[in-house]
Amino acid sequence: MYKPEKLQAYLTSISERRSPVEDTLKRNIFRYSLWLLGIPAIIYGAIDRGVAAFSRPVLSVTDISYCLIGLVLLLSWICIGLAEDSPEPMALAQADPIELVDSAPSSDYIAQQTYRLPFPYLCQVYHLLNVQHLEDIHRFSLGNLKVIRINQFQKTQTGGKIRFETMLDSPFNVLRLWRNPVVEVELTIHSPHQIELKVPAYGEKFIRVLFSVVPLSTTEHQLSIHMFSNLAWPKELLKAMLIVASSLTLLEDLPYLNHLARRNYDQLFSQTLAKRRSNQAMQLFHRYVDLHNSAWSYRQPQLSE
Ligand SMILES: [Fe+2]
Repeated sequence: MYKPEKLQAYLTSISERRSPVEDTLKRNIFRYSLWLLGIPAIIYGAIDRGVAAFSRPVLSVTDISYCLIGLVLLLSWICIGLAEDSPEPMALAQADPIELVDSAPSSDYIAQQTYRLPFPYLCQVYHLLNVQHLEDIHRFSLGNLKVIRINQFQKTQTGGKIRFETMLDSPFNVLRLWRNPVVEVELTIHSPHQIELKVPAYGEKFIRVLFSVVPLSTTEHQLSIHMFSNLAWPKELLKAMLIVASSLTLLEDLPYLNHLARRNYDQLFSQTLAKRRSNQAMQLFHRYVDLHNSAWSYRQPQLSE
């Protein structure tokens, strides 16, 4: 049956201007995926020519030279990598400057991405501290990752820490390249503006992602994602993989952040004690509210539009 309101809603949705962030994320995914796909393509070409050179009774100099060119190209491709987009500096109209902590050794630094997002910064904080959204919102990018249980919650002076077990139930999940199927992930609040996610990899290795969330106005914030790892992989390769992964997850997050911004998110900060107790996965968010909600109320009028 013809429903004019549904048609109108559809026409509105397709005529809405796409966010510049969405375009940047899609461009990142395309560029870095293309670069990653170039690696097996060059390896295949070099191996093919190498096999052809040795499979004939007389060694083919032409095939050998093609094979060597392929290997040199592969080395240059990996070493040169792709230039990182340098973020534009954003002016913050703050009475008190926000201090961001960076405790990771510089040798572990892999990549950084910065975005200006058209949502209140508390929506971002809520999203980052909502453990359950890894299952629901990132079903595609994390390959049906499951949050099995919350193992530990610990308060700290400036925030808190939560440890939770996650499981990859599919044998084809690409994340198995880095980590065991079941690992304990750590989520930490370092300050009102910094949240860290630490995922253990094989052996004593890890991948750390530091999210810095800075309010720019009542309706906008800046999100910086710093990625660190001590995995013994070529850095350019790891950088491309982590940037594709972070761009894809942020692309998935945009509708969720939009949804949070449209609802009365103040309600999220005033939940009853009974409701809090029933939701273990949100303990870290409740800790954030207890520590920093007043700071947010204080900061709000100082922000410029
Ligand atoms: Fe997310």
